[in-house]
Amino acid sequence: EVLAADGLVALPGFVDLHTHLREPGREDTETIATGSAAAALGGYTAVFAMANTDPVADNAVVVEHVWRRGREVGLVDVHPVGAVTVGLRGEKLAELGTMARSAAGVRMFSDDGLCVFDPLIMRRALEYTRALGGVVAQHAEEPRLTVGAQAHEGEVAARLGLTGWPAVAEESIVARDCLLAQHVGARLHVCHVSTAGTADVLRWARNRPAGVAGRMAEAVVSAEVTPHHLLLTDERLTDYDPVNKVNPPLRTGGDAEALRRALAEGVIDCVATDHAPHAVQDKDCEWAAARPGMLGLQTALSIVVRTMVETGLLDWRGVARVMSERPAEIAGLPDQGRPIAVGEPANLVLVDPDARWTVRGAELASIAANTPYEGMELPARVVGTVFHGRPTSWDGKVRH
Ligand code: NCD
Ligand code: ZN
Ligand code: ZN
Repeated sequence: EVLAADGLVALPGFVDLHTHLREPGREDTETIATGSAAAALGGYTAVFAMANTDPVADNAVVVEHVWRRGREVGLVDVHPVGAVTVGLRGEKLAELGTMARSAAGVRMFSDDGLCVFDPLIMRRALEYTRALGGVVAQHAEEPRLTVGAQAHEGEVAARLGLTGWPAVAEESIVARDCLLAQHVGARLHVCHVSTAGTADVLRWARNRPAGVAGRMAEAVVSAEVTPHHLLLTDERLTDYDPVNKVNPPLRTGGDAEALRRALAEGVIDCVATDHAPHAVQDKDCEWAAARPGMLGLQTALSIVVRTMVETGLLDWRGVARVMSERPAEIAGLPDQGRPIAVGEPANLVLVDPDARWTVRGAELASIAANTPYEGMELPARVVGTVFHGRPTSWDGKVRH
């Protein structure tokens, strides 16, 4: 019995700026249809499909395919994110304008799972995106500092004999791109912030005196944090279970606490899932060979409630801000993330704050089942989602 008799909370439909839907290329782990179902069940009415598909979403044909397929499925607005460079770890700027003018109307461009080594390419991406009225979502990884990295570089990794991914690999590239964005007056969105030091960099960048950088007045820096970086720490690595392997790695308890505070303060704007489905053989293997990433769409609300509401850091108004309003603003979606307007088709989610449920990966809508919350009892449950005026999920079931 999921439905409570009363006490349901209504929020604007959630907006996920960071979802890996795996189509095209890895439809054995997720498709736009199964990922949309997971989104509807998780309370989402819009998701941003990351560009590291196969083929890479670095051109109009791929982004239009993802956009069309999302419309056909019709459970959630699927906005394709364009890759900033041609190909994975590309050295050449992609045709951002062609993707922007395509039917998909791409306005968010990312290096997620890709990486922009060259600061000049990043500068050009920021300038080009600015001209298109869009935003660059940066993956917050300096790859030359993370070669062979498997875990947060710190005491736990040293004890377990795992190679480390240092905090500086994230903090240094975030600082570089904040400076570049302010120099050219562009919008930069920092993906999956995972360290206390990155929160400090964001605070510093935002508080620089006006005029210190070329076009600082026009620049906007925003940032997201994942549910797993709010809750889980590198102590989870003790049994070498690859379900806990993720980019960026699970950090220390001190980092998680700093991220929760930064989210409450607004230094980090929003929560994004980084929903990353993987095949059984890519997770049920030895630690070093496993792929990084974990499912997130159907557990995000519950983890936010556990880490932010139960701790008194956010009230329900704050949950709406970090799950709906701020991500809709960052992405420039006028019809999402707002309180429900009378007489308009609604994008909303009904939540039962008193419900408890136990996570079973096999019961989630995704094809993949790689959840780090297997068997955990979590607070709060999505009772129903309404997408452009139409119910897309009710009582744990998708409504087509
Ligand atoms: C992402 C994926 O699986 O696509 N994995 C992850 O751990 N976040 C890619 C990435 O962001 O590195
Ligand atoms: Zn990433
Ligand atoms: Zn990602």
